[in-house]
Amino acid sequence: MNTFSRGPFPATRMRRVRRHDWSRRLVAENQLTANDLIWPVFVFDGIGRQPITSLPGVDRLGTDQIESMAQTACDLGIPAIALFPATESALKTEDAIEAINPDNLVCRTVRKIKASVGDSLGVICDVALDPYSSHGQDGLVHDGYVINDQTVTVLTQQAIVQAEAGCDIIAPSDMMDGRVKAIRIALDAAGYTNVQIMSYAAKYASSFYGPFRDAVGSSGNLGTASKNTYQQDPAQGNEALHEVALDLAEGADTVMVKPGMPYLDIVSRVKTTFGVPTFAYQVSGEYAMLSAAAERGWLDREKVVLESLLGFKRAGADGVLTYFAAEVAQWIRDSH
Ligand code: PBG
Repeated sequence: MNTFSRGPFPATRMRRVRRHDWSRRLVAENQLTANDLIWPVFVFDGIGRQPITSLPGVDRLGTDQIESMAQTACDLGIPAIALFPATESALKTEDAIEAINPDNLVCRTVRKIKASVGDSLGVICDVALDPYSSHGQDGLVHDGYVINDQTVTVLTQQAIVQAEAGCDIIAPSDMMDGRVKAIRIALDAAGYTNVQIMSYAAKYASSFYGPFRDAVGSSGNLGTASKNTYQQDPAQGNEALHEVALDLAEGADTVMVKPGMPYLDIVSRVKTTFGVPTFAYQVSGEYAMLSAAAERGWLDREKVVLESLLGFKRAGADGVLTYFAAEVAQWIRDSH
């Protein structure tokens, strides 16, 4: 590494290039722009906005808020949003059948966005059953176990109704085996050859998802049950590469690592190993953690958020799903 060095101090002074702002900008290896951001958005079937206690500053959006949200994303230069429905509990069932209703909340929201901003904004839809299941699991449950292959069949149908509604990127977050392949085949057979798949390839069984489950109303249903039989064990590193390799072989266009900050080693290894578009999800618990400390005045909100996102870029992420997306895009805009 240092064979070209003129030798140690005093010949080398690392602080020289750090002295002035122009110089620090000049040598900067990474830069965060609005193009790096994906904005996760919660929607509900009603009017107005609903605050989410464990995600201060993030609201569920009613149907009347959708167009202005989409316009805001476009104005800020955010390339894509990821939609998550807070389904009414009356519509949640054991078999999560609402997931494949072509007129469910998410499909109606996609249509509304596409009718208002068209292709100016990419729309990502999650494929998993937890927003629709009465038990809060991502798949069908039989004898207390989430059954893989039968779940995959439902997931392919869910992907199709979302593609029909105009979704640009199908994002399976369920961690069933073989679902990427099944979804790709189903999309192609239905003529949606240009609909992308962004797989939640390395998704861990994390305790950082708590506030998200409050947001979509699945935490009460899930209770003390875990998702450990399908999401990855946080002890595993190499296994994430195996997951990514399989999802790519099955047809994923882009891959995601989730959660974000505690898993930057995985982001870096995935990017280095495969060189494919790699995304990271700064999940709800990470948002809550940073927000709570900032609210108490213990951390500077803007500074720590920007630093955390630059960390994703440095690790090799091509983009980050973050609940801070709109705020960050505004900061970036204001700083120019
Ligand atoms: C659904 C899903 C989850 C998240 C994204 N999609 C929750 C889970 O797996 O329990 C979490 C996102 C977040 O915490 O911000 N399968």
